[in-house]
Amino acid sequence: VTHYLKDYQPSNYQIDSIELTFDLDPLATRVTNVMQMTFSPNASDDRRLVLNGQKITLLECWINGNLLSAEDYDLDDEFLTLSPSLDAFELKIVTQCAPQNNTSLEGLYRTSGNYCTQCEALGFQTITYYLDRPDVLSFFTTKIIADKSQNAVLLSNGNLVEASDLPDGKHYAVWHDPFKKPCYLFALVAGNLSLIQDTYQTMDGRLVDLRIYVEPQNIDKCDHAMASLKKSMQWDEERYGLVYDLDIYMIVAVDDFNMGAMENKGLNVFNSKFVLAKPETATDVDYEGIESVIAHEYFHNWTGNRVTCRDWFQLTLKEGLTVFRDQEFTGDMLSIPVKRIEDVKRLRSNQFPEDAGPMAHPIQPQSYIEMNNFYTMTVYEKGAEVVRLYQTLLGRDGFRKGMDLYFQRHDGQAVTVEDFRNAMADANHVDLSQMQAWYVQEGTPVVTAKTHYDAKLQTLTLSLEQTLKGKVPQQPLMIPVLIGFMGYDGQPLTLMPSVQDKNSLEERGDSWLLKLTEPKQDFIFEQVATYPVISYLRDFSAPIILKTPNALPELEVLAQYDSNAFVRWESMQALALASMEQGVSAYQQQQPLTLLPSFAAAFASVLADSSLDLSLKALALTLPEMTYVADQYTEIPLEAIQAVHQFTQQALAEKFSQALLQTYESLQVNEPYRYEKQAIAQRKLKNVCLKYLAKLPQNLAIAVNQFEQKSNMTDVLSALEVLSHHQTADSAKCLQAFYQDWSKDSLVLDKWFSIQAAAQVPDILAQINQLLQHPDFKYTNPNRVRSVLGVFGRLNWVGFHQASGTGYQLLAEQVIKLNGINPQIASRLVAPLSHWKRYDSGRRLLMRQALESILATENLSKDVYEIVSRSLA
Ligand code: ARG
Ligand code: ZN
Repeated sequence: VTHYLKDYQPSNYQIDSIELTFDLDPLATRVTNVMQMTFSPNASDDRRLVLNGQKITLLECWINGNLLSAEDYDLDDEFLTLSPSLDAFELKIVTQCAPQNNTSLEGLYRTSGNYCTQCEALGFQTITYYLDRPDVLSFFTTKIIADKSQNAVLLSNGNLVEASDLPDGKHYAVWHDPFKKPCYLFALVAGNLSLIQDTYQTMDGRLVDLRIYVEPQNIDKCDHAMASLKKSMQWDEERYGLVYDLDIYMIVAVDDFNMGAMENKGLNVFNSKFVLAKPETATDVDYEGIESVIAHEYFHNWTGNRVTCRDWFQLTLKEGLTVFRDQEFTGDMLSIPVKRIEDVKRLRSNQFPEDAGPMAHPIQPQSYIEMNNFYTMTVYEKGAEVVRLYQTLLGRDGFRKGMDLYFQRHDGQAVTVEDFRNAMADANHVDLSQMQAWYVQEGTPVVTAKTHYDAKLQTLTLSLEQTLKGKVPQQPLMIPVLIGFMGYDGQPLTLMPSVQDKNSLEERGDSWLLKLTEPKQDFIFEQVATYPVISYLRDFSAPIILKTPNALPELEVLAQYDSNAFVRWESMQALALASMEQGVSAYQQQQPLTLLPSFAAAFASVLADSSLDLSLKALALTLPEMTYVADQYTEIPLEAIQAVHQFTQQALAEKFSQALLQTYESLQVNEPYRYEKQAIAQRKLKNVCLKYLAKLPQNLAIAVNQFEQKSNMTDVLSALEVLSHHQTADSAKCLQAFYQDWSKDSLVLDKWFSIQAAAQVPDILAQINQLLQHPDFKYTNPNRVRSVLGVFGRLNWVGFHQASGTGYQLLAEQVIKLNGINPQIASRLVAPLSHWKRYDSGRRLLMRQALESILATENLSKDVYEIVSRSLA
């Protein structure tokens, strides 16, 4: 069945309160659900009460104390339908389920011998019968009964109101959540967990009890998560005036989790990957991931929980907004331009392809088969870009006014993206109706810029034209394009716009914000003495592809002099891309490969620039990924890109070996690990240098040495990564040593699997098969599956796309296998196959066959079916 946004109807029944009792047992958990319900017809006078429920056994059903018999209701695989005649009544439902057998990791399941839940989006209906929709808000009270020796800790949402021992070695706890919430925010955790505790004093003077629960062996890896939580709480107070609202905030880390984490009210459940860290086990990327995911889930308490979504088509209301908030937080904690560049890289390498492929959907999808398939880069990351557009247009203060009004109007409600937009508009007394098009039109907009300079009139005309999927968009988008000017000597220039353009642009510091609202629009600048260099799309002011008329000379000026860090980086990328594109042509004409001189020159000047922030330097010296190069072509010249990418790295390594080595050595510090901006930047640049250096065989010893130092996981892993592409005795020895050191630490062991799955080695298929057969490989653990199969499909571009098609076959077989174990994980693995139409005819056929073999499988889950059938359509 396909669900449509246009079919939305409010519920005729409300659930005023719910009392849940869980009698936990691995194979026979009994759930008693007592709901106080009212009939309050909204759309129609239909009295049927249709409750969602799946994969559970109905034991009893009572209305106002009367036991119903089978004639009193309809029951099928998905619904329990009743016809109550009263306007207010108590409905009691008793069901049974088997968490031990639940490998889908949705609903109530077991992980490392503990119980936990994941209800978003529609998992609550696998726990009990309910109106499983986010616009039904209720007060939850949860009683948990369990064996005490196995489950010392019993947790649910809200505040603990009662706990005591019971006969037969059991005990219980009762939790009450004073805030109304939709059932997707429900959580339960039980097991033998250790905790660290801290407190946070809110700006209104309340003391909040902060707790992080982990498996006992991980208790030494919680400090960074706790520090991140406290920073998040403080930041949300300072930036948005948002204060935490319960007396306790709990985070539980579990090893088996489908996604990153979940914002359940007062009781977040996290993939342990986003909690556990110490310098020996976690990289800088891990530390940053933890800080930002902790923040993300914490920020959801207001953007998601206090104000929630009316229906699942509004997912970006909470996710786009909360990602935007966590991006801003990370920028403030570390570096605003570095964070912006990293986010743009991620958007381009993951969201742009999604928006150009068969799964393209607007940030507000209009339909779905399986909601879990729409927790996408588009809903999250493009959604965050669209939220950012409001801040770009309204300024930070205007955006804050809109947020204030949003909470003032909608606290305690389940609302829509229109409600958010209206709050932004009304708080600032502006018309934002044109922003609607961003929510309903899919695809990455392309804006083409053209300039015309009239030397006689001294005017510069900048024409911007927008297209969507090659056409004039149905409704033109509102696209803010931030630009700046400079001379060819790099000196800033101040140009004045002509008066008639006053409404369509705004001055922003040393930049102009152009507001493109028409399919095509001209912006005229006057008294322009000489033709300037134009810095386009500063700060990546809109999630678009901008085609500029800038050629190599302009890119060189921008790369060296622009005041905007994003455009400096972008110009380096453009030069690298130009170099590789001419390489691809040369390769295709069987000409020798060369570096583009202007790229080599820019690379040299970045490397030598001692005033440049080290993180920005590291980013500027990193080549665009092969997949980003591939995105520039309609039919991907895979072999050519691979050869040119190799060549470019090699040629840079040879040409700049002295400077790279010098930089590498100057960054060798003998200090204990600190998660701090400057130290992170040093490690980042050092490891970028190492990557180039290791292209020369004589330098492999440097990597071995760095590996053996064991200073911190960032350096160890970077060294191991460069070694993994070489099948030498040293490389094998290091991999073996790493395994010896870390085989008992599942998160570190994931890294060992990932590195090998990503290795650029000739017999990669044999290597993947070996990893799949390794005793430590587990199909039931999503992190482990992702570390081999996710990495192989997404990051080992060359290995996965071997011309023989064996990579495709392997992935298809594994998807079929996982379909029966964990459909959400299976469906995520399909993505690399879905872009089959972009490849050459040989690969196209093989990829399609792999997809067809999945589609032909019996008992295909909705999750996998939706992705595969859309890919083949
Ligand atoms: N709301 C969670 C977050 O953004 C993601 C949960 C998604 N889970 C799922 N099974 N679809 O942090
Ligand atoms: Zn989220």
